[in-house]
Amino acid sequence: MTDNVRIGIVTVSDRASRGEYEDKGGPAIEAELGKILLTEWEAVAVVIPDDVAQIKATLIDLCDNEACCLVVTTGGTGPAPRDVTPEATEAVLHKPMPGFGEVMRAVSLKSVPTAILSRQTAGIRGKSLIVNLPGNPPAIHDCLMAVFPAIPYCIDLMEGPYLETDPGYCAAFRPKHAKKKQS
Ligand code: MTE
Repeated sequence: MTDNVRIGIVTVSDRASRGEYEDKGGPAIEAELGKILLTEWEAVAVVIPDDVAQIKATLIDLCDNEACCLVVTTGGTGPAPRDVTPEATEAVLHKPMPGFGEVMRAVSLKSVPTAILSRQTAGIRGKSLIVNLPGNPPAIHDCLMAVFPAIPYCIDLMEGPYLETDPGYCAAFRPKHAKKKQS
């Protein structure tokens, strides 16, 4: 089933949501996913403030109503008082997937020692995978490239759509015994 692949892109930022600055994170994710994915997909993009209730409601809507197989967030993962994206994410998850945060921090640590300040996490809600990315575009690139190879197989196991990536840019890894796409 590859019809209507929808991916939620959630920019969590007080200032971007008030229009005080341009949202750079959401468009950076959309551009990066455009390079990674060969499968046709549609972005469902929203910009919201750093507010737990609004983040939770948005994630629930994108997973349960908008049927996004993947929802990525950007921003709000650090230690500042208004950074609450991981708490809001954890509150709506059915299954935490801690490996994503571990890998993203490990990869980011090669670029900046402050990578340990990111509390980004991931997990499954129903048939959707939610992944927190940090706020700045270079960090988005590093983190997506590190975890995306595992995402298509994760979504296979969740009985979601079969995602194909550009092997020359970001090759998806599926174990040899994994079922092939049904044509
Ligand atoms: N990861 C990468 N790859 N590059 C970075 O510059 N910045 C870190 C961290 N992860 C960074 C990174 C810093 S300084 C912080 S505070 C956290 O991400 C959280 O960022 P966020 O609040 O925008 O999510």
